[in-house]
Amino acid sequence: MRNENKIVRNRFSERACHWTLVVCFFMVAMSGLSWFFPSLSWLSSVFGTPQLARELHPFFGVAVFLLLVYLFVRFFHHNLFEKTDMLWFKNVKGVLMNEHGAKLRIGKYNAGQKILFWSIMALICALLITGLVAWRAYFSGYFPIPVVRFALLFHALAGVGLMLLIIGHIYLALWVKGSVSAMLTGYVSRAWAKQHHDRWYDEVSEDEKSLGVAPGDRK
Ligand code: HEM
Repeated sequence: MRNENKIVRNRFSERACHWTLVVCFFMVAMSGLSWFFPSLSWLSSVFGTPQLARELHPFFGVAVFLLLVYLFVRFFHHNLFEKTDMLWFKNVKGVLMNEHGAKLRIGKYNAGQKILFWSIMALICALLITGLVAWRAYFSGYFPIPVVRFALLFHALAGVGLMLLIIGHIYLALWVKGSVSAMLTGYVSRAWAKQHHDRWYDEVSEDEKSLGVAPGDRK
């Protein structure tokens, strides 16, 4: 479909990866939460039975890690901090008040999204390492019991941390109208790009001019 007013923000592979990640993450998070308090034990039915939840939680956890590795490879270069991010930090109040007067020279992701990106990546690494140490079926036998206990403690803390970050991520994604539909359809309007990610929009426009690509066709 060609649309002169739209530009590509997320490719199909990125969108498929992101939404598969969402499903896997919620299954892992719900089963994980079910072990925190007896009152939450019903959450383990997300996998059918509590026994299946115990069995499958680690496999889905590894899937979440691998899906995030793909998103890391695709997006990390857009999330490197740059001097212009200081402009976003200085104007964060205006950003939160939804004022779009000042040109903040924002690339594909703003400084807040970059912080979130690196925090998600750090926490998933912590969850993978501590999760492997505590994985009774395969690995925990190789470690002394106190190490496994510490791993479980840090695993739980990192899990809660990641869930809180994801709640924030969902809130912000819904707050910036047009970004969830970009994760569903792949496209944003030119007006959206100019308003929220002005430098990224300029870069995309430059590329279109120099490559002679029709608007809306740029991947
Ligand atoms: C219902 C749940 C979720 C919604 C609605 C959602 C929405 C979004 C949207 C709209 C974007 C694109 C932002 C933009 O283009 O500016 C995005 C990016 C992203 N999401 Fe989600 N997301 C959800 C859950 C998750 C989960 C569970 C994870 C990881 C565990 C995750 C990790 C990411 C990452 C890594 C990016 C790329 C951001 C970057 O590179 O800075 N998302 N999400």
